[in-house]
Amino acid sequence: MKSILDFDLKGKTVLIRCDLNVTLVDGKILDDTRITSSIKSIKYILDNGGKAIILSHFGKVKTTEDKEKYSLRIVYDRLKELIPNLSFCDSLDFDTIGDFVGKVDFGKAVLLENTRFYDLDGKLESDCSEKLYKFYASLGDIFILDAFGSLHRAHASTLGISNILPTGIGFLVIDELKNLDVLFHPEHPFAVIMGGAKVSDKISVINSFIDQVDTLLVGGAMANTFLKAKGYDLGISIYEEEMLDTCKSLLKRYGDKIVLPVDFYGNLSYENGEAKYTELDSFDSSLMALDIGPKTVELFSSKLANIKTVFWNGPLGVTDFSNFSYGTKSILAVISNISCTSILGGGDVVAAVKNLGFSDKVTFLSTGGGATLTYLADKDLISLKNIER
Ligand code: 3PG
Repeated sequence: MKSILDFDLKGKTVLIRCDLNVTLVDGKILDDTRITSSIKSIKYILDNGGKAIILSHFGKVKTTEDKEKYSLRIVYDRLKELIPNLSFCDSLDFDTIGDFVGKVDFGKAVLLENTRFYDLDGKLESDCSEKLYKFYASLGDIFILDAFGSLHRAHASTLGISNILPTGIGFLVIDELKNLDVLFHPEHPFAVIMGGAKVSDKISVINSFIDQVDTLLVGGAMANTFLKAKGYDLGISIYEEEMLDTCKSLLKRYGDKIVLPVDFYGNLSYENGEAKYTELDSFDSSLMALDIGPKTVELFSSKLANIKTVFWNGPLGVTDFSNFSYGTKSILAVISNISCTSILGGGDVVAAVKNLGFSDKVTFLSTGGGATLTYLADKDLISLKNIER
């Protein structure tokens, strides 16, 4: 696929779409991985004599309050620490932006304001408006798509600009595709670990992997739906009624591969209280399952013992609650001690890996959420459509 390495960037104005959509907690950036992993391509443009115009969305912008919350200025402040030759253009006016960009020297970069601010004016960004992408394209000579986490979105600043400008992928996307592609030809035994809340969010990936996996380990609230489908009573635990039939047919066809929890830690409600133990066969009906228990950790560990490749998406318990991180932490420890290729993706599980201190013990952490799952399910992403292969 055509990439940043295929262009002569000297004296060129390069539009680069990054995914700088970081999570804010109390007005602070929780994890800056998406920022730090974007700088390689930006620096490469500057070091090779180009001018970089950086585009990104930030949050979902539907109201004027969202607009106040999601200015990219906070991201700019962090990015400038890494790229000192950076300025910020907070205008949304096309002429003002054009003038601003025109005054930026080659070897320097400018970050434009949140692309989704144009969604307040008739969803110009999210509906891939020709007016918006033609404007963006008019600012530069070359387009580099480096926003892996957004490539499943056909937006003006992702797909749209590539309708007009010569386009290639950046280093972050190159790295993501290289690592995720390993999962299409995995060394066996191959295990997939799925956690998180909803079967419906993961069903396409499950369907695309289920034939080739040797083991599918299911945790998180997703597992409740599978267990309900098998007829278990799980007290006040959440599950997806509308996915029960899907789970039943998966269990019927692939029951020998699908491994489900046999015990849990739970609480009387969805909060970080005392972790109360209960087993599947005698589930305490007053409880909501919030984590897997030690017998499940032992069971999952035995299934992982000889694996050569593992993909993991979604935590096995509520890792936002310290008392319910035990299962995720235990299985991360197991994987970090096995000699295998371990690829983890999805915001929550990546945050858990970082918070629990396992970042350098896994092979690859994908920066994508929905994009990672879409790529693994479809082997393609809509915003790569126009790029020469
Ligand atoms: C993500 O966080 O998954 C990406 O930045 C895409 O964000 P979106 O789901 O708001 O399009």
